[in-house]
Amino acid sequence: MKNKRLMAAIAVIGMVIGVSFIKDISSQSQSDKKQEIPTVGILQYVSHPALDDIYKGMVDALAKEGFKDGETVRLVFQNGQADQSKLTSMSQHLINEKSDVLVGIATPAAQALANQTQTTPIILGAISDPQSAGLVTSNERPGGNVTGVSDQAPVKAQMELVKQLLPEKKMMGILYSSAEDNSAYQVKKISEEASRSGYEVRKYPVPSTNEISQMMQVMAREVDFVYVPTDNTMANAMQTIVDVANQHHIPVIPSVDTMVEQGGLATVGINQYELGVQTGKMVADVLTGKSQPATTPIYTFETGDIIINKKQADNFGITLTSDLVKQAKIVGGESK
Ligand code: TRP
Repeated sequence: MKNKRLMAAIAVIGMVIGVSFIKDISSQSQSDKKQEIPTVGILQYVSHPALDDIYKGMVDALAKEGFKDGETVRLVFQNGQADQSKLTSMSQHLINEKSDVLVGIATPAAQALANQTQTTPIILGAISDPQSAGLVTSNERPGGNVTGVSDQAPVKAQMELVKQLLPEKKMMGILYSSAEDNSAYQVKKISEEASRSGYEVRKYPVPSTNEISQMMQVMAREVDFVYVPTDNTMANAMQTIVDVANQHHIPVIPSVDTMVEQGGLATVGINQYELGVQTGKMVADVLTGKSQPATTPIYTFETGDIIINKKQADNFGITLTSDLVKQAKIVGGESK
């Protein structure tokens, strides 16, 4: 009898201890979860409309995938303002913030991040060519801690559009920054494509924003139209480019939609916001463990959209066929 009571008492005590233990575990795991919302560190190279759109697309896609900033994910954002030393210190900062995933928007930002870590996953936001920028072993099989989205412009379709809009123009000048690896790659690609399409190509590299205006004046004398690749320095200085181009009545063919909105004539380009959306999806997949950078190929877009600046088309006396108007997105943009 005594024994039975004792056993019952022990059992009750055991249960109480057990229940409080379980409670303890569950409250602990809840507070762990709170602390444990993942951190995504984002480094954007500079502010220009295209990169800003990419950032927006990425944040929206992350929220859609269940990673809402401040609730289920912590986003730490840094903008390098095109300053190399800032890019380095900001990369270190994002790593110190214990980012679970890093995002590099534009080539110089991605390179700065990749220089700081070989382990933390890095997702590339719209990098022209990750392979030639030294970010991955190969675009098909990255191999390391880096993968993401490429925004390679559909240059062949662009050349076809130029032929249609400017049938008389034969001499193409490429204006680009000599400091950006993404531009070096594109200039090579577009030169080959343009030569194949029967254009004569001249290259006009500039070391910084300061030389753009002067270089544009030289170009106005030497070429029939100016091609601007997806170059961050140029996207940032698009207003200057358009102003000088308008003064000298020379058409500018950019490589992205946002630069047509800023006053370029026309292009076939990839929607910048959509590039960001795809970037966000890839970040989410790494956060949930669905994919790993080493075995995830670089994502590329197959096609672009035609976009035409109507005011600029009018400036150059270009009549748009109804076919083209049907296909294209028509914007107003800057003009004089
Ligand atoms: N592709 C560029 C890079 O690798 C970044 C970029 C994305 C960009 N969209 C752009 C540059 C539009 C200029 C304009 O750095």
